[in-house]
Amino acid sequence: MSVPAGSPAAVVFDAYGTLLDVHAAVARHAGRLGAQASAVSALWRAKQLEQSWILSATGDYADFATLTRRALDIALAAHGIADDALRDDLLGAYRRLDAFPDAAPALAALRGAGLATAILSNGEPAMLEEAVAAAGLDPLLDAVLSVHPLRRYKPAPEVYALATTRFGCAPERIAFVSANAWDAFGAARFGFRVHWLTRAPVPVEYGLDRLARARIATLAELPGLLA
Ligand code: LAC
Repeated sequence: MSVPAGSPAAVVFDAYGTLLDVHAAVARHAGRLGAQASAVSALWRAKQLEQSWILSATGDYADFATLTRRALDIALAAHGIADDALRDDLLGAYRRLDAFPDAAPALAALRGAGLATAILSNGEPAMLEEAVAAAGLDPLLDAVLSVHPLRRYKPAPEVYALATTRFGCAPERIAFVSANAWDAFGAARFGFRVHWLTRAPVPVEYGLDRLARARIATLAELPGLLA
């Protein structure tokens, strides 16, 4: 199918939190965590991201699977949980997270309209490949791009350049979709057309009311905006 002029060269998605539900791992084992389940999940995610930012700022690097493991250890310890079997099960579940229900239909519709689709993620290649396959998204993506070869994390500008290099286009021809406000900001600063996904109402951060091309409440809005 031919793509109208002015259409993006590719629609590029953040993975964790945007296509994949990062809280699905704890949800699968919530009974074993009891009342602390959502607090553990929130701290796990917060520490995973904090470590990515700190290592990028200091010029250090450890891959995202390692950061995910370290962050879980912090979250469990902070809640007084010492259970190696649970830790292993949570890490295993993180490698096979559920996709949000709107992910596959939106990707299929965009591709059906002739647009290229991709992931650009902090995830290291093996964990991304496993997660995308487990969620059934692999046939719906033209590329899965990982920051890993650069040994730097979002929102470093050179990370976003992975997408312009892959699709051979200027930043403004990439439509970028993220539910992570700080990632949406980094992508907008790089020059992408950003669609900031807020599945639940959240306050505006980083001037995204001005910087984002659109704010969407579900990925189902994308085909109507882009295709
Ligand atoms: C990613 C993190 C930001 O997928 O969620 O890149």
